[in-house]
Amino acid sequence: MAKKTRDSWGSRLGIIMAVAGSAVGLGNFLRFPVQAAQNGGGAFMIPYFIALLLVGIPLMWVEWGIGRYGGGFEHSTAPGVFHSIWRKNRFIKYFGVIGIFGPLVIMIYYTYIESWTLAYSFFSITQKYAAIGDQSTMQAFLRGFQGLEKNAFFSSIAPAYTFFLITFVVNMVVLNHGIRGGIEKFCKFAIPILFVFAIVLVVRVLTLGVPDITRPTWNITNGLGYLWNPDFSLLKSAKVWLAATGQIFFTLSVGIGVILTYASYLKKGDDVALSGLMAVSMNEMAEVILGASIVIPAAFVFFGPVAIGDIANSGAFNLGFVTMPLIFGKLPFSEILGFLWFGLLFLAGVTSSVSLAQPAVAFLEDEFNLTRKKAVSIFAVATFTLCNGAIFFLGKGVVDELDFWGGTFCLTVFATVEVILFAWVFGIDKAWEEMHHGADMRIPKIYKFIIKYVTQTFLLVILGTWFFQEWLPIIAMKNVPAETSGYILATRVGLLLLFLVLAVLVKIAWRKRKLNSSVIEG
Ligand code: ALA
Repeated sequence: MAKKTRDSWGSRLGIIMAVAGSAVGLGNFLRFPVQAAQNGGGAFMIPYFIALLLVGIPLMWVEWGIGRYGGGFEHSTAPGVFHSIWRKNRFIKYFGVIGIFGPLVIMIYYTYIESWTLAYSFFSITQKYAAIGDQSTMQAFLRGFQGLEKNAFFSSIAPAYTFFLITFVVNMVVLNHGIRGGIEKFCKFAIPILFVFAIVLVVRVLTLGVPDITRPTWNITNGLGYLWNPDFSLLKSAKVWLAATGQIFFTLSVGIGVILTYASYLKKGDDVALSGLMAVSMNEMAEVILGASIVIPAAFVFFGPVAIGDIANSGAFNLGFVTMPLIFGKLPFSEILGFLWFGLLFLAGVTSSVSLAQPAVAFLEDEFNLTRKKAVSIFAVATFTLCNGAIFFLGKGVVDELDFWGGTFCLTVFATVEVILFAWVFGIDKAWEEMHHGADMRIPKIYKFIIKYVTQTFLLVILGTWFFQEWLPIIAMKNVPAETSGYILATRVGLLLLFLVLAVLVKIAWRKRKLNSSVIEG
């Protein structure tokens, strides 16, 4: 069969927008403020920025560099990219499976959560929750929608399922149009809109003043102070450092395998150094400036210094889908503000979920020489089936389990493997040259040292601590309640099977490749 021509990015702006789109997601607007509020406020920013400088930015450069290098051998995913770097090692391609498996696992639940944001933008405009004025009723509305209980608002999961179907189709349509015609086009349109929506909301929150004159201290300055006043005593806790590093991984989308895939569509002479840094900067602006200025300060102004602690501790979903709608309900044009908030989350979500899907689609295209359409169709059927587990067993801890393996464990292992491969197997001198090929900036020399020694040490310490402290309790399911243990076990078995299927596909693809090359040579 004739080899297809590889897809590519249409412009430099396009790939920067796409990488920024992958990075800017629900994590920036929901996960970050909650993490910061729970882990020392302003003090959280110390481990956060250290992790950004020592792990986040180096990994971003490594993934751009390694991805563009692998793309030169017509590989867009980690098995092929890792194999191009270490040809003599027969097993390294199987480590690369993590770079398809991890994003796929995240995609399974991420798309469902993304679909809630679409549903809630619709509910905002149609004022479906407008009459609700207290936390517990708004929580019941969310639980009814999620199918966790039948109540006066929802009698079945059908509305949630419908919005999921629409969201899933939107993702597949974008993917079906390819890198240049789908992902790039969508991100170029979605990212500016998303920033405009976020800026409007930040201005609205910062001009809230004192909504209740009987409580003058419930004001926006104190709201920002609640988030930013540092509690340095918390820096002694390893948990805070882990939380900060985890947030950096999650928010930048590094260590997942998606940036590597996006970078593989670059041309050899395209810049990676400045583009990578620009994508990081856009993400940090969306997170630290915009993300931090919406939910927590607004919740402080309306619920006060006592309740805010419970609200922040109630988690990102509660903040996004319960607290925010209640806040909007107290303001003029609540339906518009609600639409902007959930619309912003939806756009941020889609630009991230298409990036999570791309490695699996690219793997089918590259290694099995399938057309884009065929690859997306196979991917759609497989993922759609898997998503049903997240939808119907949401209340059984399945989503948290997927998030742990896909969004925490795989990320750290994958990041460690790719840094060691690039800095040690490929060699830091060659890696440095590779990152500077066509570069529009010189990366500060200190990063040669950081990438070679510091980033991986940082990652190995985290992994080591994790193994030491958590390995046994997690495997033994020590903290899993008895009533959900069957579901968790089934999820784990399912994940193991999924990983094995992907590993077998890698084996088949390489066997075919070997046969083809011996036919050509013979
Ligand atoms: N980086 C994406 C987010 O922050 C996954 O949501």
